[in-house]
Amino acid sequence: MAANRPTEATAPWWRDAAIYQIYVRSFADGDGDGTGDLAGVRARLPYLVELGVDALWFTPWYLSPLADGGYDVADYRAIDPAFGHLAEAEKLIAEARELGIRTLVDIVPNHVSDQHSWFRAALAAAPGSPERELFHFREGRGSHGEIPPNDWVSEFGGTPWTRIDDGQWYLHLFAPGQPDLNWAHPAVRQEHEDVLRFWFERGVAGVRIDSAALLAKDPALPDFVKGTDPHPYIDRDELHDIYRSWRAIADTYDGIFVGEVWLPDSERFARYLRPDELHTAFNFNFLACPWDAGLLRSAIDDTLAEHAPVGAPATWVLCNHDVTRTVTRYGREATGFDFAAKVFGTPTDLELGTRRARAAALLSLALPGAVYLYQGEELGLPEADIPRDRIQDPMHLRSGGVDPGRDGCRVPLPWSADEPYAGFGSTAEPWLPQPDAWPSYAADRQSTDPGSMLSLYRKALRLRRDEPGFAAAPGETADGRLDWLPSAPGVLAFRRTHGLICVVNLSGGPVPLPGHHEILLTSAPPDPSGLLPDDTAAWLREKR
Ligand code: GLC
Repeated sequence: MAANRPTEATAPWWRDAAIYQIYVRSFADGDGDGTGDLAGVRARLPYLVELGVDALWFTPWYLSPLADGGYDVADYRAIDPAFGHLAEAEKLIAEARELGIRTLVDIVPNHVSDQHSWFRAALAAAPGSPERELFHFREGRGSHGEIPPNDWVSEFGGTPWTRIDDGQWYLHLFAPGQPDLNWAHPAVRQEHEDVLRFWFERGVAGVRIDSAALLAKDPALPDFVKGTDPHPYIDRDELHDIYRSWRAIADTYDGIFVGEVWLPDSERFARYLRPDELHTAFNFNFLACPWDAGLLRSAIDDTLAEHAPVGAPATWVLCNHDVTRTVTRYGREATGFDFAAKVFGTPTDLELGTRRARAAALLSLALPGAVYLYQGEELGLPEADIPRDRIQDPMHLRSGGVDPGRDGCRVPLPWSADEPYAGFGSTAEPWLPQPDAWPSYAADRQSTDPGSMLSLYRKALRLRRDEPGFAAAPGETADGRLDWLPSAPGVLAFRRTHGLICVVNLSGGPVPLPGHHEILLTSAPPDPSGLLPDDTAAWLREKR
């Protein structure tokens, strides 16, 4: 924690942490084979220290046939050989910790890979066998069992059922290579509790829980009738018991959870954050909110209001490995809340998007709670257009080629402008092609440019650490105050503590800054008369 914050009696680190998401396959390639790896991450730890993040969240790095970018895990206790090996992961966790950076791993409890030993054993065993009970195997409907057992729809499109040779079907809410586990089975619970201990024993500080609201299923696997409560597979009450037992394990290691919980109902969402369940969950409403002052203000207020009763800190996220990159999203026409929304060839104005993304960075970093950054966000990378024949994401393939999928935000990072493949480290072509413009976004070029996105993130993260006004106050469950200040229409202005003010101008024209302040940082320079331009944010400190 920052030098001028008290070292004792501070709030727990995770309540206001800046956590950086690493998609290992695309972060940095240490062995030159075209795929990012742990060696690449280890070599770039100094970059992450200089950036100023508190923790790293690694998307799944386990053994996986990569049917869904690693979210199809064949062995939770092994690192995929394309990335390295377990001892190297242990070293990385320890090295990062030495440098003051904690590690979070990603656990995918809803499903495993079809190459996982459990599923292979289930396929080899007979219908009705104990091996099959670990999954959801069913007979089909129709006179020959040729119709899937129910009418559910996969998150990736089409039926979530695949038929095997003996005629039974198995459930996979995602791709066929991701069979869903049966969470009513005690062995499934036991195994995941052991996996949690396994990673906590290796020094990780926390766990991200993938698809956290989907694990439990109605055992009858009934057809989905709109409006049915409880839903047959989303947000079922059984989940809370599972997470309470996980919390007890995490508490013995001082570990934390962040749940991937996509739920429109804020009261239901907050249940996952009760004091004996998950510490935090991703706040996707803020991510999806269009660039509009009124909507952003409501998204912020709603978020703080839904977290307050359970005493959990909010998380602020602008992008991740599943959604369109921020500069592209903010540069295109918004028709409303825009979750993943990847569309081929949507026109976007990157200059406008970048301006807004810079302002959004200062907005999100000024809000009370934890913040998640996704690799490349600090470089202002746009969403890449991937040639159709190079797309690997199952979301694209299962949509019949209609949805571009998520590869456009997963392109290998540019590190050095003048090196092959923009310094990603590969001597072979990277697993996804990089756009021609990639060298212009390279970290080395941005490092020396005080006006770059990277310089903005570095300065902002440093200030966020050092300024007491940003800190979660000791003993304060609401994670620091946020008080809205009177402001012109289209302007967001709020005060944190210690006279710290954030102003974001979305009004369409320049606006005056509040008086009696010192400017700490702006996302674009004030105009010559001292006005804050449109689509610009400023951090100020009130003069006493
Ligand atoms: C989560 C992940 C996503 C993955 C899915 C299935 O939503 O973020 O990348 O495809 O779960 O595991």
